[in-house]
Amino acid sequence: MITIKNEYLPEKMKPIRFRMETDDTYTIVFSKRTMSHAGQFYMLSVDGVGESPISVASGFGNPLTFSIKAVGSVTKYIMDHRDSAIGLRGPYGNAWPWKGADHIVAIAGGIGIPPIKALIEDMESEGNLGDLTVLYGARSPKDIVYKNEIEAWKKELDFRITVDNGDPSWKGNVGVVTTLIPGVERYKNGSAFVIGPPIMMKFSVQELIKHGFSPENIYLSLERRMECGIGVCGHCNIGQWYVCESGPIFRYSDVMNEPEVFL
Ligand SMILES: Cc1cc2nc3c(=O)[nH]c(=O)nc-3n(C[C@H](O)[C@H](O)[C@H](O)COP(=O)(O)OP(=O)(O)OC[C@H]3O[C@@H](n4cnc5c(N)ncnc54)[C@H](O)[C@@H]3O)c2cc1C
Ligand code: FES
Repeated sequence: MITIKNEYLPEKMKPIRFRMETDDTYTIVFSKRTMSHAGQFYMLSVDGVGESPISVASGFGNPLTFSIKAVGSVTKYIMDHRDSAIGLRGPYGNAWPWKGADHIVAIAGGIGIPPIKALIEDMESEGNLGDLTVLYGARSPKDIVYKNEIEAWKKELDFRITVDNGDPSWKGNVGVVTTLIPGVERYKNGSAFVIGPPIMMKFSVQELIKHGFSPENIYLSLERRMECGIGVCGHCNIGQWYVCESGPIFRYSDVMNEPEVFL
């Protein structure tokens, strides 16, 4: 007998853990193991409310985790109904191409950090954290996601953090995340992975190129509004591609001439 998997059918699950990261950003953890690679995403749904693409924030084999900023109907509903079952379908999309690169500089702005957490966990499980530098920019100290993990990561890898606006308790870097780029060592076959708001990605790419990275070695994770997540509805196109199907990660040299890449 041939059984056909219905790719639209979500699996309903209740999170086993819920943690507020900041005033508006939370992390949910499921008992299910992560069967995706860093950079991939799931569609999370709530009956009668809607469905949203959310990046996997956990490494392969670890409990499936998402970190979500409450911005609208689905993301606020999940935050306000912590005991409700959530529909999960996925994983979809491609992964960060970290294997084979000499060194990775991962640059995350704001809520771009979850798939970099997954990257850290994937690289850690293969003993490759020495090949990773992370640059993370948050708006202010109170907007920093993963405060506990960051303390551990700073001991295990080259993890650098900055905030746009400090406060009296903040002793670290102040400035946008691009200001950290000139301080990183440039490796001959190194790659840069960039994820965050479009304006942050645009200026990061400019700074990376100034710093000697070629467009072929820069990868961007692009965000587009999605409906189906599987290349059917046509909602998420950029140029000739559907972001859900060919992305969300694109080599910059492939998309650099698309006028909407940083929109
Ligand atoms: C591949 C991918 C991975 C993502 N990973 C994460 C993640 O790990 N964590 C996280 O918090 N968010 C992530 N997002 C963004 C997340 O999907 C949206 O914030 C979410 O869909 C909003 O849904 P909502 O129903 O709560 O908001 P809505 O009620 O749909 O909208 C609320 C507001 O946000 C705007 N908005 C909604 N979605 C987008 C979008 N994609 N781009 C720009 N504006 C938008 C709307 O215009 C509106 O102003 C990801 C998006 C993509 C495409
Ligand atoms: S979300 Fe439907 S084609 Fe990408």
